[in-house]
Amino acid sequence: MLQIAEDRNFFVDDALSHIGFIMDGNGRWALKRGKPREYGHVVGVKTFESIVRYCKEIGIRHVTVYAFSTENWKRPEAEVAKIMSLFLEYLDRAKRIADENDMRVLFLGDPSGFPEKTREKMAKVEAETAEHSYYLNIAVNSGGRAEIIRAANRAIREGAKELTEADIEKNLDSRRSPMPDLIVRTGGEYRLSNFLLWQSAYSELYFCETLWPDMKAEDVRAAVRAFYKRNRRFGGV
Ligand code: FPP
Repeated sequence: MLQIAEDRNFFVDDALSHIGFIMDGNGRWALKRGKPREYGHVVGVKTFESIVRYCKEIGIRHVTVYAFSTENWKRPEAEVAKIMSLFLEYLDRAKRIADENDMRVLFLGDPSGFPEKTREKMAKVEAETAEHSYYLNIAVNSGGRAEIIRAANRAIREGAKELTEADIEKNLDSRRSPMPDLIVRTGGEYRLSNFLLWQSAYSELYFCETLWPDMKAEDVRAAVRAFYKRNRRFGGV
């Protein structure tokens, strides 16, 4: 189900140093198979692991995934509980996965929404992987609007009286990564759903029908190929 096709000649260059994924479609994928939505998240985590590994293999230095938004708490209690337990399980394996792939794990979002045990594990994973060179940003309890407000408040606490773009940028949760060059949303919806709102100002957007658990290396390659056909002008001519 999760084979990653080999294509040893496929690499990106510096034009694509940061890719973001909105991993949508887990619930529908499971329902189509007559399974509970939660099962889609179980398979979705496996897909997440194989896709971030593949992104690193092709040379993408920063990957950000939208794992749980500030709005996802509105889902049925059992589904939220399942996502949280998968996240905890992932935290137990994250150190090994990060070491194997030379990845530094960083969590974007407001950790105060999580139980203390989870927060401790998140801090431990971040600390233990801090020396690695590739970046894996996992957005959990995260939303673009809240992140911008958090960044503004941090800048104000540091003494800023009138905010500049630089004040916001240096205080974003994602401040250790450059702005995303490409944002990929699976699952056939055409919106950002509050993901990296500030950072996506000039990102190339790529939408595909593939439901997240079906996402394969070939789908990443299709998104990357589409990216390289775009003409990025950043407001210039
Ligand atoms: C979107 O599918 C997916 C989510 C809201 C949750 C994604 C969470 C994981 C893959 C698990 C936790 C993450 C990590 C990094 C361990 P959906 O449920 O909105 O699908 P639908 O649109 O078909 O309903």
